[in-house]
Amino acid sequence: GKVCLAYSGGLDTSIILAWLLEQGYEVVAFMANVGQEEDFDAAREKALKIGATKYVLVDCREDFVKEILFPAVQVNAVYEDVYLLGTSLARPIIAKAQIDVAKQEGCFAVSHGCTGKGNDQIRFELGFYALKPDVEVIAPWRLPEFFERFAGRNDLLDYAAQKGIPVAQTKSKPWSTDENQAHISYEAGILEDPDTTPPKDMWKLIVDPTDAPDTPQDLTIEFSRGLPVKLSYSKGGKDFAATKPLDIFQAASNLGRANGVGRIDIVEDRYINLKSRGCYEQAPLTVLRKAHVDLEGLTLDKEVRALRDQFVSPNYSRLLYNGSYFSPECEYIRSMIQPSQETVNGQVRMRLYKGNAIVLGRSSSTENLYDPTESSMDELTGFSPIDTSGFIAIQAIRIKKYGESKKAKNQD
Ligand code: ARG
Ligand code: SIN
Repeated sequence: GKVCLAYSGGLDTSIILAWLLEQGYEVVAFMANVGQEEDFDAAREKALKIGATKYVLVDCREDFVKEILFPAVQVNAVYEDVYLLGTSLARPIIAKAQIDVAKQEGCFAVSHGCTGKGNDQIRFELGFYALKPDVEVIAPWRLPEFFERFAGRNDLLDYAAQKGIPVAQTKSKPWSTDENQAHISYEAGILEDPDTTPPKDMWKLIVDPTDAPDTPQDLTIEFSRGLPVKLSYSKGGKDFAATKPLDIFQAASNLGRANGVGRIDIVEDRYINLKSRGCYEQAPLTVLRKAHVDLEGLTLDKEVRALRDQFVSPNYSRLLYNGSYFSPECEYIRSMIQPSQETVNGQVRMRLYKGNAIVLGRSSSTENLYDPTESSMDELTGFSPIDTSGFIAIQAIRIKKYGESKKAKNQD
């Protein structure tokens, strides 16, 4: 039978490819372009050389922005306060593309190189089963006949030599990475000690804030119904404006990266109940999310926002992290994003400067929730100050009872 393998061009998935062939399968090597820096031609050549029947590359960049990344901006998605979910968000798009290829190529099974201790195996496999319930999944790192044979890196290298698999000359890095247009992650290896500060040369996408330009970079992001529709800025005396989703995302990425914006370092809780230390470079989502959150302050109804923040944002973020994008509950939560965004129209002016994304101002030509004369300290229009006395008195009924009962108990 034919197996569709998520191939990366690296050592692990090259070994898996050769091993699947050795088990008697035919292998279609699948790769998704999600905006990672990659030599796709070299990967194609390598996959075919090892013995793949076919190499299929799918460009997912635009779908990724439109279907996943922009909705994540709309809902201000975030996991455990800081992680903007870069890897988690890419998984549904990759799983969908891989299943499409498996169907086109007549594969009965799909395979991947995720370890048995991580989140990614769950995200991919639940996606596979939702999109093709009869698919078989071959997860070599969870099969004893595989992981017992390749217990250490030397076993992998020996097998590579035996199978004529070219091994990149570059010394392997002492951490593991996952990259796409939203971010890069660094985990494992020397990072497993949570008190080890990553070496300066680990970070590859974002300029070190201390080396960032002395001149701030200003930009304006326009939103329509919570979706970024225009990003404009000047650079070197020239004006630029991006209006297509992918262009907007990439402009936010380039400007953020050049100005040191979006590095984080956290210890997070994996779905499988292990804690894990990760470092991430997440420039574009940092910039877009900050602008979006700000514009909601001007344009979003207070109670809609409170409900969304209590219910929709945390649940959507958690479901994405836990690999449940393709699930009834996520479909339900996702349907609540757009209705919360009808009034999120306007623009935010921002400044990127040495690692900071600073809001300079915001405006909306269509929304009127904010009325400066109502909240002004210099004017008596809006509601009467006398009304507030009643408002406080009513609130105080319950609060006074609370105070009384505290007092009574303290006297016991
Ligand atoms: N810890 C992050 C997450 O769960 C990043 C995972 C990186 N994945 C990888 N295959 N290196 O979303
Ligand atoms: C892996 O285990 O394959 C990467 C880390 C993760 O999925 O959380």
